[in-house]
Amino acid sequence: EPYEMIVVGSVNADLVVRVDRRPRPGETVIGSDLVIYPGGKGANQAVAAARLGARVALLGRVGSDGNGDFLRKALDGDGVDLSRLTETPGPTGVALITVGADGDNSIIVSPGVNALLSEDDIAAAADLLASARVVSLQLESPLATVAAAARTAARVVFNLSPPAVVPDDLLAACDPLVVNEHEAALLLGEHGTPRQQATALLALGPRSVVLTLGADGAVVAEPGGVTTVPSPAVDVVDTTGAGDAFTGALAWRLARGDDLAGATAFAVRVGAASVRNPGAQNSYPHLEDLETL
Ligand code: RIB
Ligand code: NA
Repeated sequence: EPYEMIVVGSVNADLVVRVDRRPRPGETVIGSDLVIYPGGKGANQAVAAARLGARVALLGRVGSDGNGDFLRKALDGDGVDLSRLTETPGPTGVALITVGADGDNSIIVSPGVNALLSEDDIAAAADLLASARVVSLQLESPLATVAAAARTAARVVFNLSPPAVVPDDLLAACDPLVVNEHEAALLLGEHGTPRQQATALLALGPRSVVLTLGADGAVVAEPGGVTTVPSPAVDVVDTTGAGDAFTGALAWRLARGDDLAGATAFAVRVGAASVRNPGAQNSYPHLEDLETL
């Protein structure tokens, strides 16, 4: 039976310390105790969808180390299909994360074996990828691999994070392209209202666009028009991985047949739920948790 959704992407151990402020070069600051959470933008998308009830597989790589075992167990516990998650000699991806007093985060990713996810891996899974309703992508894997996955997929949801300049044919495959305001600024090099930005992003070639706005929700741009989707108000504890939760939930609702505005309205609530608690996957809601929004 085909998957509703396949995520192609990264798997990281998130090493998280909370700080009042971040050190300048040459400076030392004292932070909180270290917490290690399961993360990685690809794994995060897959877990977000699985917690909501998706039949989702993750195509990626973990290393042959303790972090790899830790992440595999966490993903399995959340019901993500791991038949396409390969163990590769080398280090598992690691993210060094500081969370500030406002719940904002800064992240350094050490890709480890995520960098080895290859076009051959995509070719080996081509039938599987083509049979899924939606393939969900991000950019912590090599660009050529992500582009190959997009060429193979029936429908591509692509979160352009971390931001980079990507080839036109990858952009053209996106339905939707998902970006936040920073990523939009990189692509557009100009400013304007969010609705104007979303419209300008659509003109770059994707089939549709979702521009996420944090506490202000999201803007959807399609050839038929632009829709603004508000967010419920929440107390922000930690925004790490909120965009991944949003994208995973969005991809799943699209796989289930929602229209883009409807899927976005659902995904905004999932993203909002995630910022109420620490960590990325650690904070992702199950369906019943959304009732409290
Ligand atoms: O988007 C959040 C994620 O970015 C973290 O889980 C971390 O692993 C980095 O990949
Ligand atoms: Na969170």
